[in-house]
Amino acid sequence: MNCRACGSGSLKEILNFGNMPIANGFLSERNFDKEGWYPLRFGFCPLCKMAQLISPVHPNLLFNENYPFLTASSDWMVSHFANLVDEVMERIGQPNPFVIEIGSNDGSLLKAAKGKGAGKVLGFEPANKIGSLARKNGINTILAPFEYLQAQLMIQTEGPAHLIIATNTLCHVHDLNDVLRGVKAALARNGLFVFEDPYLPDILRYTTYDQIYDEHKWYFSVTSVVNMLERHHLALIDIEPQEVHGGSMRYYVTHADSPISKKAYQAYSQERFIDLGRMQEFAGEVTYEIKNLTQTLGEIARSGRTVAGYAATSKSTTILNSMGYDAARAISYITDTTPVKQEKFSPGVHIPIVPPDALLTNPVDYVLMFAWNHWNEIRKKDSIFREKRVLPLWHTTKIAEKYSS
Ligand code: TYD
Ligand code: ZN
Repeated sequence: MNCRACGSGSLKEILNFGNMPIANGFLSERNFDKEGWYPLRFGFCPLCKMAQLISPVHPNLLFNENYPFLTASSDWMVSHFANLVDEVMERIGQPNPFVIEIGSNDGSLLKAAKGKGAGKVLGFEPANKIGSLARKNGINTILAPFEYLQAQLMIQTEGPAHLIIATNTLCHVHDLNDVLRGVKAALARNGLFVFEDPYLPDILRYTTYDQIYDEHKWYFSVTSVVNMLERHHLALIDIEPQEVHGGSMRYYVTHADSPISKKAYQAYSQERFIDLGRMQEFAGEVTYEIKNLTQTLGEIARSGRTVAGYAATSKSTTILNSMGYDAARAISYITDTTPVKQEKFSPGVHIPIVPPDALLTNPVDYVLMFAWNHWNEIRKKDSIFREKRVLPLWHTTKIAEKYSS
């Protein structure tokens, strides 16, 4: 099989989840029989070290008008973006810079950039509804994906960008090489490209297999990023580990010939453990965790206790559809704060999504914590956890260890 990053024929399958529904495909009852199922296969290229989906589904099936994600849906993420903007604007030290965001969502980050003195901002957002919302909020947004041809057109009218930002976006793009060609073309000579995405070593460390779903085409490490950038005459100059999304890495990139920081080089050296053997070991751990969770939910149901899901995340689609169907159906409902998800059903196993107050009006013994990446925020703000009225349940033993310590 060909690696979709480096093009070599060395791509190996690591995990096969079988057919899965669209991860963000929350649906109404009348659409149950129209739901599509697509193979979900996770692979690794031992040559360029890029972990990736094998034959991912077409982007039109994912990022359409129904796409429900909103940046501003979490307080913590909003402050994360504000800090990111502060830090990178200071780093480039350019007065009134032109800032581009790839995957600009509802425009929150670019709004913060404007507030910090950006001379001009431009977002690229293929999910129409969300991009239009950004436009309404006064953020200049192109309602299309960032692509090489479009980047070339854009610089003719707007000029090159001093700063290009992509947060949790590059891992979603279908044609990664095309986007990087676009970045190379659109970035000013002394410009900075900053992107951050879930970090493969953290996924391996906590066995967070729920990061694997149709939208996440790429699972980056410093090593795979260095290899990928080299092919596009771009250079990694620095990194900054992030807590978001259960462990992410922020990468700082310039045009080639810039020296790499000590920190980035150290991370690169520490990643030598990532090889085919480690990836196969991960596959074994994932299989164990799925079996374990299926058993736990089965026991809870048999003993007459009740369980709900907390947050209808995209990640939850992988968990719910890879465990046994009966075990998944032991979950009475899933709460979520996002209005467009409420009154719909979860993809595949069709568990009702309800507003969070269901946990008070229809109490349960346990919640399976699907938004584990927001746990530090949730446990502080949600009284059901503060007062220990329900117990959180974790989908992997290592996340349970992480949050109980
Ligand atoms: P997110 O972290 O974006 O995960 P994914 O990328 O897997 O979808 O998911 C956040 C979801 O969790 C979103 O639907 C809102 C919901 N949510 C809650 O219901 N309550 C909360 O307290 C938080 C922080 C999020
Ligand atoms: Zn490769």
